[in-house]
Amino acid sequence: MKHWQIDQLAWDRFDPSKVDPELVPAIKAASVVERNAVDYARYLNNVFSDDPDFRLAADLWAEEEVQHGDALGRWAMLADPHWDYDAAFQRYRDSYRIPLEVNQSVRGSRTGELIARCMVEIGTSSFYSALADATEEPVLKALCKQIAADEFRHFKLFYDHMQRYLGRENIGVFKRLRIALGRVTESEDDELASAYHTTNEPPGLPYDHTRCITAYMARAMRNYQPHHLRRVTGMVFKTVGLKPHTKMQDVVFWLASKLFFSRQRRFARMAGIDRNGACQPQATR
Ligand SMILES: [Fe+2]
Ligand SMILES: [Fe+2]
Repeated sequence: MKHWQIDQLAWDRFDPSKVDPELVPAIKAASVVERNAVDYARYLNNVFSDDPDFRLAADLWAEEEVQHGDALGRWAMLADPHWDYDAAFQRYRDSYRIPLEVNQSVRGSRTGELIARCMVEIGTSSFYSALADATEEPVLKALCKQIAADEFRHFKLFYDHMQRYLGRENIGVFKRLRIALGRVTESEDDELASAYHTTNEPPGLPYDHTRCITAYMARAMRNYQPHHLRRVTGMVFKTVGLKPHTKMQDVVFWLASKLFFSRQRRFARMAGIDRNGACQPQATR
């Protein structure tokens, strides 16, 4: 049972004058990645083939993720009436697939798989929280708040199952940390870059990873503020088994902020948009 329905949102309050045009490409890209969760549910069903409780939870989780994609797609079509969500999703599916026919996790263990799932939910919960805070368009703001609430619940879901498997597989803090950080670096792989390409660029333009990940990251990262990152570091600490709200978390938060905001500036410079989303003249790139 989903916690909300797309039609419950006040779509008639959509205000085109409040749409930030630099956010729209990121929403389009996010919509197809969310909808692709059905594939992840199939993958998770194979990895956890003898765990009916988790398989059921994964199927319900995927339904909620698909709803995120459908709602974001609907909003993007209001913001850009020339854009076709279904056609963009088909193009994405044709260009990017994850390996589904597996019988064990690509992370080496079930605990590792669940750590990676926690990291994804940390990423999405912070992304939509930051977006909800940044946008002034009322429908997108309400939608992002709703989605962020789901993503925090998803984190808890995978975290609870991870704790269950941790009791059996007994994976140490360093290994958990390595898996968690490994998943963070994967955010710059092809999944989001090809989503940006297939939802925003014309079919005749060849895919270029650097161009596309830069364009996506510049738009996704610029909404973050320090308090979003503080929550991220607390959730990562919890996932890998370190105590949050400690001096150590303060230090990690300080280092992570430095790194994050320097990358934020770098992507913005490379993509030619400033932190407020305004396009900069070509000559300054
Ligand atoms: Fe989602
Ligand atoms: Fe989620």
